[in-house]
Amino acid sequence: MPNPVLLTLSGSLRRGATNRRLLHEAVRLFGDATHVEADLDLPLYDGDVETGEGIPASVQILADQISAADAVLISTPEYNKGPSGVLKNALDWVSRTDGRPFADKPVAVMSAASGQTGGERAQLILRAFLVSFRPRVLVEPVLHLGESGRQFDPAGLLINDQHLTTLVTLMQNLRSEIES
Ligand SMILES: Cc1cc2nc3c(=O)[nH]c(=O)nc-3n(C[C@H](O)[C@H](O)[C@H](O)COP(=O)(O)O)c2cc1C
Repeated sequence: MPNPVLLTLSGSLRRGATNRRLLHEAVRLFGDATHVEADLDLPLYDGDVETGEGIPASVQILADQISAADAVLISTPEYNKGPSGVLKNALDWVSRTDGRPFADKPVAVMSAASGQTGGERAQLILRAFLVSFRPRVLVEPVLHLGESGRQFDPAGLLINDQHLTTLVTLMQNLRSEIES
């Protein structure tokens, strides 16, 4: 498929997030594509807001972006052995929107964290969270970027050849999944 739309979801909101850098590297290595970066700076899920005011506009934008994307890339930090609340909150809101936007969507999941295991536990839990959304989550290769603050050069490029090779394969697999 020429010029597929790739939507990236960073579980870390901070400007210098290594998860966002990893997603940018993934998009670069994917090649020809239109990149859309989701804004997960959403209100906290609150059933009273949903009942009283409906789905917030920012949440509906996210759900529409997921629906419109040919593939979604998610990268989570590890906070206290789990995915970030930012990401869980976004998934909880999306689950309340109409149309099951993640259903059958090709999804690549990664993690980046300052610990040596690179958010491996957080990524496993995130993969479990995603099951009920019924996406087509790539099983391999698995990329969990440890000591993530040390893994990029000043231009934001990954410095480790092994990580690069893994990410290239993951993106090739994602392209195949889009086309299958
Ligand atoms: C509340 C909190 C909890 C954290 N818990 C973990 C952890 O369990 N494992 C880990 O490797 N790093 C942990 N960290 C460090 C993060 O991995 C680090 O802040 C990382 O850079 C976050 O990703 P980012 O660069 O995309 O923001 C924690 C950080 C915060 C703020």
